[in-house]
Amino acid sequence: PSTLLAPSILSADFTRLEHSIDIATKAGADWMHCDIMDGNFVPNITFGPLIVQAIASCTPMIIDTHLMIVDPDRFIEEFIKAGSHQITVHQEACPHLHRTIQLIKSLGAKAGVSINPGTSLSTLESILPDLDLVLLMSVNPGFGGQKFIPSSIGKIRQLHEMRLKVNPGMVIAIDGGITEENGQEVVSAGADALIAGTAFFKAANPAQTAAKFRAMTR
Ligand code: DX5
Ligand code: ZN
Repeated sequence: PSTLLAPSILSADFTRLEHSIDIATKAGADWMHCDIMDGNFVPNITFGPLIVQAIASCTPMIIDTHLMIVDPDRFIEEFIKAGSHQITVHQEACPHLHRTIQLIKSLGAKAGVSINPGTSLSTLESILPDLDLVLLMSVNPGFGGQKFIPSSIGKIRQLHEMRLKVNPGMVIAIDGGITEENGQEVVSAGADALIAGTAFFKAANPAQTAAKFRAMTR
């Protein structure tokens, strides 16, 4: 199967959102990645459910919402009502991670957990069987356009081993600093989905770039 590509709207032209989303839809991208930041969990603020709803209304793509917010339980229902098909929360922001994951699933969305580069995979061990996806951060979350942290490759391999034992259907997605140069190594290590902000939206030919990413297979 081809690798899933999820352009991050964070790197799009916000004065022309519909046009930017069209570029991704027509390029055959699989998910539209929406980065939600609260200025608290991460040192940046982006947008809320209103914009997610606007994005969802312009594309048939899967809306993949990445919540970089404190106490995400408060907003999960709103983001699902806005059209999110997948909700990913941060392990570091959820004291009751199991409850949060059950809440997402009970509202009919797929449930994911993300961990920061400084967080160990062992923090996911108990929840892994319940997850539809894990979003491994390969940069410290907060901004697009950062450099890929090389030690992420070992983490992908280790997570791939972990899932084979308890949840082989779970998707591994990598977020941060993905490029046409490092994408293949990331996929070979075990990733199924690549999040790409800068590499997709700032590409000279996004459709060609999307085709290259999707053709990277294990
Ligand atoms: C970082 C966000 C990423 C980011 C990726 O906090 O979660 O999704 O937009 O952007 P690039 O691909 O430019 O690193
Ligand atoms: Zn993200």
